Amino acid sequence: MEMKTISSIREMQLFSEAARNAGQKISFVPTMGYFHDGHLSLMREGRQRADCLAISIYVNPTQFGPTEDFENYPRNLERDKALAGDVGVDVIFYPDNKEMYPEHYQTYVDVEGVTENLCGMSRPGHFRGVTTVCAKLFNIVKPHCAIFGKKDFQQLAAIKRMVLDLDMDLDIIGMPIVREPDGLAMSSRNVYLKTDEREAALSLSRSLKIAKEMYDKGERDVAAILSVVRKYIERHPHTNIDYAKICDTTTLKDIGHIAGESVLALAVKINRTRLIDNYVFGNRLEV
Ligand code: PAJ
Repeated sequence: MEMKTISSIREMQLFSEAARNAGQKISFVPTMGYFHDGHLSLMREGRQRADCLAISIYVNPTQFGPTEDFENYPRNLERDKALAGDVGVDVIFYPDNKEMYPEHYQTYVDVEGVTENLCGMSRPGHFRGVTTVCAKLFNIVKPHCAIFGKKDFQQLAAIKRMVLDLDMDLDIIGMPIVREPDGLAMSSRNVYLKTDEREAALSLSRSLKIAKEMYDKGERDVAAILSVVRKYIERHPHTNIDYAKICDTTTLKDIGHIAGESVLALAVKINRTRLIDNYVFGNRLEV
């Protein structure tokens, strides 16, 4: 099947309805484009899981704060189309802002608890924008499953919560973080990094590795681990820690002692580029 690009909501809904009526299973990967191997790994998983693989490319304005990088967010549709074609994507949903948020738009989805800490604290309104656009995309694409990366750990938790709470009829799949050979978590925002900033950015993944080693040797005290992590990151030039926290993976509330599954979540500004990364302790499924 030729890969299609659809910009109209109605047309996308009709396409998905036809696929469903033909007995096809639809998997969906929502993205903001400017693809890297992290995005492509989600698409490959989607390809395996369904007959019809839909993705969306939409830089969603409602999830950016007024001082954030919405205008400058990297975009390259032609390159993205070529990469999506190689992975075997069937349809790209590519709407514009007027299509997604027409005049008089006034409905938002707000997940509470799990969005309060971490990025929810430093980016007010961010998750409201994310859950709203994902709810809309799910109603437009009508997928049987949607695939998200664990790089955005809190986003995945918020989406899972929304789908459960609002009885949305699809499965949410979380996929491992894809990294550069040197450990840097892939991100569309990595293109902002100059050479010395790119070096400083390695402090995120390296500090997570140090934390993992402490944990593997038996350390369970959150303050002890975070103190080492913070000092390690702060030793690097250009870094400014937004947060470094260890939270319960279900509630995303801070904990003092690691007992069950928990996540060390980092957000660090490298000059003006804000990067996130995380590591899950006590996860039996992922190393
Ligand atoms: P975006 O940042 O483009 O990410 C799209 C998907 O790719 C998300 O599920 C994200 O977690 C995943 N991803 C990004 N980097 C990854 C990596 N290194 N390894 C694995 N997965 C990775 O996240 C968004 O867009 C938006 O918030 C969106 C959900 C599309 C709503 O606008």
